Amino acid sequence: MLTNLKEIIIEAKKNKIAIPQFNINNLEWTRFILEECENQKQPVILGVSEGAIKYIGGYKTVVNIVKGLIEDLNITIPVSIHLDHGSSIESCIKAIKAGFTSVMIDSSKKPIEENIEDTKKLIEQAHPDIVVESEIGPIGTTKEEELYTKIEDCVKISKTGIDLLAVAIGNKHGIYDGQAKLDIELLKNIQKNIETPLVLHGASGIDDDQIKQCIKNGITKINFNTELQIAWSESIKEYIKNNPNEYDPRKIIKSGETALKQKIKDKIKLLK
Ligand code: G3H
Ligand code: ZN
Repeated sequence: MLTNLKEIIIEAKKNKIAIPQFNINNLEWTRFILEECENQKQPVILGVSEGAIKYIGGYKTVVNIVKGLIEDLNITIPVSIHLDHGSSIESCIKAIKAGFTSVMIDSSKKPIEENIEDTKKLIEQAHPDIVVESEIGPIGTTKEEELYTKIEDCVKISKTGIDLLAVAIGNKHGIYDGQAKLDIELLKNIQKNIETPLVLHGASGIDDDQIKQCIKNGITKINFNTELQIAWSESIKEYIKNNPNEYDPRKIIKSGETALKQKIKDKIKLLK
């Protein structure tokens, strides 16, 4: 069932559990993720970056793929289609018009007042039907220096009525240089000051114990992408090595299915 997951997110925060966002990259990934989440009876947020939207064909194609799979595969779990790291209000509106149920406006590199202004403008157009996420980071990549969210900025942006807030507590996108080390004390302080459900981006590579501590301390949505990509592509490489004469794209792409589904299963276990 396609939904914005708003009520489920609020319930999850109360119960100190988290909802996963798994990023989709193509039709097959969407199917594999939906099938495994259905098996696990796990409500899921399908994260779609602007890059993935372009790759798949467009905003409407994404929505039609998800809707088609939900119907054809008899998916009964709540499913949200979420614009991940939307770069502008226009992009968020395009997503909403196409049928996305949730959008992220990522103005985290702008000065805080502009970030809040963008968030407000989007909420005016998106609420009450669409869930809105924004980010007070910016959340870095492994190449950048350590970035941490300021509590006073979280307090300011929470007053907009935002549904979800992504924070920077030492988390980074992509592969970490060495061990990820999150500032759980900062997270505790953010949670003490605002009610907004918090989002952990860049969760790939963060050990299970820190993920659990995050959930205990206000993280309600957790985004996984890179670890899934690695699991899937390692499997494909192995398959091609062992089957050098295979040329059927269905067999090649499908050879990553088991590894991808296992990764999804492992991550879901952590969130409850
Ligand atoms: O927005 C997407 C996520 O933050 C994914 O991060 O690729 O490091 O798991 P990740
Ligand atoms: Zn992210």
